[in-house]
Amino acid sequence: MTNKKPEDLRSFRWFGPDTMRAFGHRSRMLQLGYRREDFTGKPIIGILNTWSEINPCNAHLRERAEAVKRGVWQAGGFPVEIPAFSISETYAKPSPMLYRNLLAMDAEESLRSMPIDGAVLLGGCDKTNPGLIMGAISANLPAIFFPAGPMLRGNWNGQPLGSGTDVWKFWAERCAGTISDDDWNAMESGIARSPGFCMTMGTASTMSSLAEAIGLTLPGASSIPAPDSNHVRAAIDTGRRVVEMVWEDLKPSDILTPAAFRNAITVDMAIGGSTNAIIHLVAYARRCGLDLPLSTFDEISRCVPVLANLRPSGKFLMEDFYYAGGLRALMAEIRDLLHLDCRTVNGQTIGQNLEGACVINRDVIRPREEPLAASAGTAILYGSLAPDGAVIKTVAADRRFHQHTGPAMVFRNYADLDARIHRDDLDVTENSVLVLQSAGPLGGPGMPEWGMLPIPDKLLRQGVRDMVRISDARMSGTAYGTCVLHISPESYVGGPLALVRDGDRISLDIPNRRLDLLVPEAELAARRAQWVRPVPKETRGYLALYRERVTQAHQGCDFDFLASPAEESEPEIF
Ligand code: FES
Repeated sequence: MTNKKPEDLRSFRWFGPDTMRAFGHRSRMLQLGYRREDFTGKPIIGILNTWSEINPCNAHLRERAEAVKRGVWQAGGFPVEIPAFSISETYAKPSPMLYRNLLAMDAEESLRSMPIDGAVLLGGCDKTNPGLIMGAISANLPAIFFPAGPMLRGNWNGQPLGSGTDVWKFWAERCAGTISDDDWNAMESGIARSPGFCMTMGTASTMSSLAEAIGLTLPGASSIPAPDSNHVRAAIDTGRRVVEMVWEDLKPSDILTPAAFRNAITVDMAIGGSTNAIIHLVAYARRCGLDLPLSTFDEISRCVPVLANLRPSGKFLMEDFYYAGGLRALMAEIRDLLHLDCRTVNGQTIGQNLEGACVINRDVIRPREEPLAASAGTAILYGSLAPDGAVIKTVAADRRFHQHTGPAMVFRNYADLDARIHRDDLDVTENSVLVLQSAGPLGGPGMPEWGMLPIPDKLLRQGVRDMVRISDARMSGTAYGTCVLHISPESYVGGPLALVRDGDRISLDIPNRRLDLLVPEAELAARRAQWVRPVPKETRGYLALYRERVTQAHQGCDFDFLASPAEESEPEIF
């Protein structure tokens, strides 16, 4: 198992030599109260921790870091906890997605610049997960992702409540006048009742599941509820294992193969995962130097059934999923669709990790012959409105709208939407197509989760609960409805979405994967000639960098200068 010798360790360059500089490095560890033998010639494990008091989903990660350290010590390593930028999905404005790349840079440079041999990535709340993984891909040191785990089921009046999903649902009921203020207030204290990330199959649950499917977590780690004692033990196991990975020199580049990405996409479809996963997986692949076109998602989605009966597409929550066998059980169910020989962080293959996994509750993890949907949890659309692609979560869309043509009602930006959507004189019916512009990677900026445009109150009162909505925004993984998202190129850079006007006919055709603006080309050319590119408001700091270098949705919204494998760039130690 052991391939490396102590003097081969990366950290040995800092602590091993008999030089004045290494004297300084060692003396500062002694300053911390350690002995030379504690850290010299041992794998130094950086625990990148996105714990923060303003990030409730990751609130327990400080304790979990202690459990990881226990495992690292047990295996003969030396743990060091390093704070990482904690993006709270709830609080980070204008959009947490704006900061994913900042966390990725933080993670990459923390690992590269310090005497670190291996890493454990502690993340959970939406963007803390892909941000850490993107950084670790680029740093390419042995690394394991340890998911924060889903929070416990929400509870209101004995009914289970799901993060996000039930907020949208009951808010619509409140706007329609069907639930009371008292009920609404009671839900507020029952919907998030433990640490952990959103317990629907939202973005955090999806990205944690995909981290496992792609081979970056220990088997079974992604489904364990945050407060469960098994979560503590999994943290200890992760600490123990990463030390072995350092000796084995097992790096992300050894794990993240094209087949591993296909496994992740296959699992994404089978769990009815968040549409955000598409953007993040494309970003991962580009950092690995792999081409992952949107068409791959569509191709795989056509042959993978949705088996996880979880909100927002289904009925149950992540705690139920864990008791039903968790992700290993689901993956065992689609074993024939996976590349079983892909390596994972525990040194075993996916196939070996699935041995013995079985489904305990067939309501929650459906059998192949009785899926939640036979195929296509997610579809990729192209057409005159989306030359570089758009995304729709078909399993969360009302079937009546899978083929639909209707007149556009256009909102120029979110402020415009907010000001007019609920006006009683808004000229809409349930057959209208609501259009939101200026909500993409640059327009938002940060591609906010505005893609589930609210149903106008006057239609809610008539009983309407879904209609076609299109935008260059993203949508929360906990959201639902007939929402076309990620339209690329975005309106802010002059994509066709920028040219849509009230009353234009828009055609959505999911079976044929089309999204078209039914306006004559001559008219569109005239509108294009009049279009003026907006002037950005942000001119300084991180936002200015973001504006200059972020890519479009179909390219993963990563910075263009990071979207390739890092050169070997070990820091000089002078
Ligand atoms: Fe943190 Fe949903 S708010 S995962």
